[in-house]
Amino acid sequence: MKLQSIFNNLIKCKSPQELIDEGVNSELKKTLSAFDLIVLGIGAVVGTGIFTIIGSAIVGSSDGAGAGTAIVISMLLAAIASVFSALSYSEIASMIPVAGSAYTYTYATMGEFMAWMVGWILMLEYAIGNITVASAWTGYFVQFLKGFKHILPAFVVNCPLWLRNDYRTMYELCNKYGWDVHDKMPFLHLPFNIDLPLAINVPAIAIVFILTLLLIKGVKESTKVATIMVGVNMFIILSFIVVGSFYVKPDNWMPFAPNGVEGIFTGAFVIFFAYIGFDAISTAAEETKNPQKDLPIAIMGTLVICTILYVCAALVLTGVVPFNAIDTQAPLAHAMRFIGMNWYAGLISVGALCALTSVLLIYQLGTTRILWAMSRDRFLPKSLNAVHKKYKTPHVMTWLSGLVVIVCALFMDLNLSAELCNFGTFTSFIIICIAVLILRKTEPNRPRPFKVPFCPWFPIFGVLTCMALMYCKFSAKATSAFYFIVWLGIGVLIYALYSYKSKRQEELEMKEEI
Ligand code: ALA
Repeated sequence: MKLQSIFNNLIKCKSPQELIDEGVNSELKKTLSAFDLIVLGIGAVVGTGIFTIIGSAIVGSSDGAGAGTAIVISMLLAAIASVFSALSYSEIASMIPVAGSAYTYTYATMGEFMAWMVGWILMLEYAIGNITVASAWTGYFVQFLKGFKHILPAFVVNCPLWLRNDYRTMYELCNKYGWDVHDKMPFLHLPFNIDLPLAINVPAIAIVFILTLLLIKGVKESTKVATIMVGVNMFIILSFIVVGSFYVKPDNWMPFAPNGVEGIFTGAFVIFFAYIGFDAISTAAEETKNPQKDLPIAIMGTLVICTILYVCAALVLTGVVPFNAIDTQAPLAHAMRFIGMNWYAGLISVGALCALTSVLLIYQLGTTRILWAMSRDRFLPKSLNAVHKKYKTPHVMTWLSGLVVIVCALFMDLNLSAELCNFGTFTSFIIICIAVLILRKTEPNRPRPFKVPFCPWFPIFGVLTCMALMYCKFSAKATSAFYFIVWLGIGVLIYALYSYKSKRQEELEMKEEI
């Protein structure tokens, strides 16, 4: 009996109507066109993936083989995995247009426990994803400083490696170049003969700290800023493609796939990070003039534009710089330096810094928003939702999100955090595709301004492609796969020890009120 009642609690769903009622009180204006949505999509999607991760997706890392020039095939695979899920997102977003993203939708379809787990997993996408972006930010910041080597003191331009990398990256660099770790990093001697390597990515931590302070003061995102950012992004990437294409040596493209199918699939898993951000398009479903037509156009349009840009940039990068010489920290800027265009490398670094800063800001906001929705539902203590007296922003939550990134940045590198973020995103995509199938059964008559075409096949393909890419990382026994399981385990523990009881307490309070 007790087990039965626990199980009933775990699968307790919120009705879509309940979610809509407590979500949006104001009527949103339907002003967005397909073009606006594409701008929004490109703004959210283009960032670290193309400016940084492309390097390790091509070359590989200690945790997986690189794709080589065949990264172009990996990019197509990652785009396919994205499109089915993005369409599924659109159907639910237009049907239940409230904040909280996949977390909220899961609450409406799979119940309390799965909702908590999805919220917890979304933290991987947003908070852990931001470690990737912050580490990438350091790479371009260092390149940017190099442009001022005649003005700035040498210790700033060539600041020690251990002050701009995490310890995993330091070990990887030492392995790669045959350096002695004790020459490159200070060690802290602790009791029991424990030697703790000291490597702190100071620029990454500093930028997250500054943005956290900004968010607490209340930064308003405007579409104008987004449009400018997209313009800068597009200009930098397009000019890289055009200028770089004059220096391409086709011999550099061979061998096309140095690590065969394994490299291509691992590359697809890694470069998937470059496509994350589609949910931003679908969450604007309610503000779209003609969602049934504009949403698929915007999703497909953004995907096609990004894929073409990514493929061209990858071909230029692998054509200009020989496979083994491609930089994994700031590959595009390094490619320009490689052909002697130092000033242009500086320009790329400025563009990349702008793009990465805006991605950081959007993701920090996203983390806070999801944590806010979870705390409103009593999965987390309500006290976390405290609002700053002067700035009227959720300062406790914002600090918490910032601290998670800062602390995790001490022991996670760019690749590990990107892979973990991908695991989180793939899982939420799978759940969204399943949610579409469930809602078609449980809420067949609810109005759907947008419907996934070829249902149930498209959602099923979405589930299968995401699973296939996750499987390839699991089967390679990657460190990120292990961390992902640990993350899930911690989520289950928090739910069992805190959230479950807190939800029951909430139910009791509601009964008393009635
Ligand atoms: N797609 C986003 C980026 O590449 C997350 O930064």
